[in-house]
This record gives sequence, C-alpha cells and structure tokens, in this order.
Amino acid sequence: MTRLAGRYGATNLAQGFPDFPAPEALKRAAAEAIDADINQYSITWGAKNFRDAIAAKYARHYAMDFDPEREITVCCGATEGMIAAMLAVIDDGDEVVIFEPFYENYNPDTQLSGAKVRYVSLRAPDWTFDRDELRRAFNHRTKAIVVNTPNNPTGKVFNREELEFIAGLCHEFDALAITDEIYEHILYDGAVHTPIISLPGMRERSILVNSMSKTYSVTGWRVGWVLAPPDLTESIRKVHDFITVGAASPLQQAGVMALAMADDYYANLAAEYAGKRDHLVASLEAVGLRCSIPRGAYYVMADISSLKFNDDVKFVKHLIEKVGIAAVPGSSFFSHPRDGADWVRFCFCKKYETLEVARQKLLFLTD
Ligand SMILES: Cc1ncc(COP(=O)(O)O)c(C=O)c1O
Repeated sequence: MTRLAGRYGATNLAQGFPDFPAPEALKRAAAEAIDADINQYSITWGAKNFRDAIAAKYARHYAMDFDPEREITVCCGATEGMIAAMLAVIDDGDEVVIFEPFYENYNPDTQLSGAKVRYVSLRAPDWTFDRDELRRAFNHRTKAIVVNTPNNPTGKVFNREELEFIAGLCHEFDALAITDEIYEHILYDGAVHTPIISLPGMRERSILVNSMSKTYSVTGWRVGWVLAPPDLTESIRKVHDFITVGAASPLQQAGVMALAMADDYYANLAAEYAGKRDHLVASLEAVGLRCSIPRGAYYVMADISSLKFNDDVKFVKHLIEKVGIAAVPGSSFFSHPRDGADWVRFCFCKKYETLEVARQKLLFLTD
C-alpha cells in the first residue's frame, strides 16, 4: 500500500510510521555516539549499558527486576525479536495460538518456525474473545500464544481479567505467552497496559517483545529487545546471533538516553496521539465510515459496510486512485479474507497537517 500510495501521490495512512521528526535529543544522542566512534559490533545480545537501561525501564514502569546478563536480548526491532523467539522455542509440529485480526508477521513467523497456527477471533465492536473458543484452541501441542497489546490493528488493550484467563490456559496447557508490547505507552481514555509477564506465575512462561520503534518514533532504527527467563534467553540469543549478529551500536547508545526519558515524555506522546485519533475518527465518521475507537496503538478500524463497495480491496484501490488516501484493506489481518471485507485500517501517526489533508480529501469520497 505504501508503494501504491507513492505511485498515486496519495496521503499514506497505510503503514504505521510517523511522518514527523524523532525527538531532537534522541537524534543528537545517536549523532554523538557515531562521533564518539561507537561504530563497531556491540556484544551480540546488546551493549551492556543498553541492557542495563532496559532493566531500569522495567523496574521503573512495572516494578519488575530483569537480569541484564541472563534475561535481556537486544535485537533488530520487535520484528526480529518475535521471529528469534519463535525459532528458539518452537519445534516442528507445535501449535501457536494467534488472535485475529492479527499483525501480519505472526502467521509467517509461526510457519517459518515449523508450527501450525490456531486462530481465535477478536470480535467487534469491543474486540473481545470468546473464552470457550480460546480454550478450544489450546491442546497438548500448543507451544505458545501470541498476545499483542495494545493491539494492531484493533486498538484493543487487553484487560487484566483477559490476561489472567490467558495465563491460566498457559499454565494448564504448559504453554508460553509471547507478547508484542510495542505500543505499551500509546494508551487512551485511562487504559492501562499490563505485561502478562508481570502476572503471578507467568515470569517463567512469558517472552516479552518490545522495541524503540513506536515509543520514540524511530521505526527505521531497528532496535528492540526480548525479555525471557534465562534458559529461553540462552536459545533466543543463539538464534539472534546467527540471524543478525546485533542491533546498530550507536543507536543502542541513543536508546540508553531514550529509555531514561522523563515521565512527561510518555504522557505527552499518548496525549498527542489521542488528539490525532480524535481528528481522524471525526474525519472518517463525517463521511459515513463508522469507526471502532481504539484504546491504544495508533490505528483506526473503519467499517465500510455502509458503502456500496462490498469489498475492502476494491474500496482501498478507489481510495488511493480516486480520493488520494492510502489505507490497509481489512482482509490483510484475517486468515479468511472475507472476514475482513467490511474493514479498512487507517493510521494516525502523522502530522496534523497530514491528517487535515486527509480530512479534506475524504470529503470527495463517493461510492
Ligand atoms: C504489533 C507490531 N509489532 C511489531 C511491529 C514492528 O516492530 P519493529 O519496528 O520494532 O520491528 C509493528 C509495526 O508496525 C507492529 O504494529
């Protein structure tokens, strides 16, 4: 969609990357690290001071202690963190439970790791799951469940009771929870993020994947991390070493500075995105697209069933070619394309002026 947007000069509300600058202090820290000749390989599982900064972050935000020597692996973004974790823990014939709609990488990650996917639906409008359906997805072959909260594409923030139910199934079926918490600080309307790894008994059976990409608006830096118990970390580090060696050294140094940012940085980030969410939702609803209001992350799922397109892909093509806005067809997030045919995902991690251009273009939306 980003390529198609380029071809038609469309406003890109498809791929989730900011079109505004990264924080000034962060850019300076990266430049200073390069100037200071921090340009060679770091320790493969992450520069010591960056792993210390990650440990300090979890102590500060969640009152959890992680051992930087045995439980933290720095990797090239959450993307690498997820596949490295899966390749490390999954064997041929295992099964992995994934909620749908899903972030697109989890299915290929699972398949590359040799496992079969079991899908469980998150149902609109609240994107809740049916507990019986989830329980039925677990069996003796289940190695893991992937939990992405705050969630892309739905904006759902899993609440504590839901996470406790998932944790209970992990205990019962001796399975792992692999969590993608990349939007942990992008929360609205009082939503609270709970890492499943912080729940009682989950420390031994959780792998937490996170990254700098979204929190610090540096999706191109490719710096992330994985928290896991020492035995799993040992395997994850081996996989990581062979697939990427390590994340960019100077950017890890900038990460030391980023993770220590004051609380108001995170409060402002969420407040800024809340305003942008409201702007985009108002623009979409003004032209008859009913929105599912996200409680976290920076995407809006819009229901296109009231229009006459009858097909999300046709709608998005029209949107790009005739209206000049790119979005992602809902079917990209479902195992059966038909299930996503009523949905289109728009992102709002953009400057207000970009969102305003989109608002004006949307006024020309006709079916
Ligand atoms: C849920 C989710 N996980 C992971 C990623 C990619 O993360 P990274 O840039 O750290 O590889 C994205 C990017 O959009 C995402 O939405």
